[in-house]
Amino acid sequence: MTRDTGRRQADAVACTGLAHAFDDTSAVDGLDLTVRPGEVFGLLGPNGAGKTTAIRCITTLLPVPAGMVRVFGHDAAGDRMAVRRLLGYVPQQLSADAGLTGRENVALFARVFDVPRRERAERVAQALAAVDLADAADRLAATYSGGMVRRLELAQALVSAPRLLILDEPTIGLDPIARTGVWEHIGAVRAATGMTVLVTTHYMDEADQYCDRVALMHRGRIRALGTPAELRERLGARRRAAPGALPTLEDVFRDVAGSGLDDEAGDFRDVRSTRRTARRVG
Ligand SMILES: Nc1ncnc2c1ncn2[C@@H]1O[C@H](COP(=O)(O)OP(=O)(O)OP(=O)(O)O)[C@@H](O)[C@H]1O
Ligand SMILES: [Mg+2]
Repeated sequence: MTRDTGRRQADAVACTGLAHAFDDTSAVDGLDLTVRPGEVFGLLGPNGAGKTTAIRCITTLLPVPAGMVRVFGHDAAGDRMAVRRLLGYVPQQLSADAGLTGRENVALFARVFDVPRRERAERVAQALAAVDLADAADRLAATYSGGMVRRLELAQALVSAPRLLILDEPTIGLDPIARTGVWEHIGAVRAATGMTVLVTTHYMDEADQYCDRVALMHRGRIRALGTPAELRERLGARRRAAPGALPTLEDVFRDVAGSGLDDEAGDFRDVRSTRRTARRVG
């Protein structure tokens, strides 16, 4: 970990006024977001909110057409290589190659991310062990279960020892035990290295349990931000009507995502967004 030498340490991620549109679809629309070093930050929001688009701007996979994105002080538009060297990324779509073994998949990432040749074999083995795949390392990824594939992708992202790990829906489609497994592996690596984690999830129980702070994104912007407890308490204070029953994070999600916000055309737009997302995933 970098030492704070009196000066304030740079934020792990700092987005100001980030905007990104696909043709006439505004996916991210003036996003202000700060992720502090060492925290687990959850980016939540309904389908089509713009989470993946924002993340792809932060990872430099998409350009930053408007606004500013910095990762540990490095400009994602001007200094893409410096940013890439700092981060590990598990995308929403599957990224492991079914025709390679687990070890070959991780070794490929080690090469791409410039892990020194002499350290590669050991670092690959360590990353596989960290996600409990040492025993399955030499089997084809095609034979892995969904949970194993997600853990393999985690190993791919961890092999470069990133200071910032970005995970887009890391537990989607996994059974409850596999979900817990993924989070435990993330937690163990984080405890050992102090890395920062930026994660999206649709599982509010996971966000509540594992994230230090969460932001609720809707239609391209942050609409609520705080610790899970703060967000629950804030909504509870607004809804005095049901004393004792503290709202859940799912209630907070519904409150933000269901609030209509700006326009009457919203419903149509939401359906269109969801379909587009479904098409890309399918
Ligand atoms: N490559 C693309 N081409 C065109 N439109 C896109 C593309 N990627 C995203 N969009 C649109 O941008 C908007 C935001 O999509 P994005 O994938 O960022 O949302 P998301 O919050 O990650 O949603 P989900 O929770 O479903 O993953 C949606 O309206 C989507 O249809
Ligand atoms: Mg997404």
